Amino acid sequence: MTHTMHGKKILITGGNSGIGFETAKALIAQGAAVVIASRASAKTDAALTALGPSARHLAVDLSDLSSVRALADAYLAEYQQLDVLINNAGLFPAKQQMTQQGFEMQFGVNHLSHFLLSQLLLPLMIHR
Ligand SMILES: NC(=O)c1ccc[n+]([C@@H]2O[C@H](COP(=O)([O-])OP(=O)(O)OC[C@H]3O[C@@H](n4cnc5c(N)ncnc54)[C@H](OP(=O)(O)O)[C@@H]3O)[C@@H](O)[C@H]2O)c1
Repeated sequence: MTHTMHGKKILITGGNSGIGFETAKALIAQGAAVVIASRASAKTDAALTALGPSARHLAVDLSDLSSVRALADAYLAEYQQLDVLINNAGLFPAKQQMTQQGFEMQFGVNHLSHFLLSQLLLPLMIHR
């Protein structure tokens, strides 16, 4: 595999499983450094071990916009570069649930949290 993503810094939400994990793995194989943003869990620990040293972790609960703001702050404090933001995490709740701020869960996690995260990180992606 060619290292076409060498030197690229990528942040992916929900990179601890499913499509997000496979995406992180493929990008690392192409030379990228990947930060997975997910809830702290045994699943996240196992994913980080499987992905190896090119993967780092920042904690976020996307059902809480204050946690999204904390994620953006933590990323901006730790890293000076963001080439690609992958807003991957999402869920399909079987029963109605609400986010911390009172939005319907699927709308809040899949859309609103990622809209806010993009807004907060866009300046770093544009002004380099
Ligand atoms: N698979 C499909 O056929 C399909 C089809 C259409 C769209 N999609 C979309 O593709 C994306 C990935 O799907 P997938 O199949 O890989 O699903 P998955 O295996 O269930 O993964 C979903 C990811 O979202 C994370 N997540 C859920 N709620 C979260 C929260 N409150 N805070 C932080 N992370 C949270 C999960 O983390 P935890 O482990 O912490 O829960 C997990 O990493 C989703 O947005 C999904 O809607 C998938």
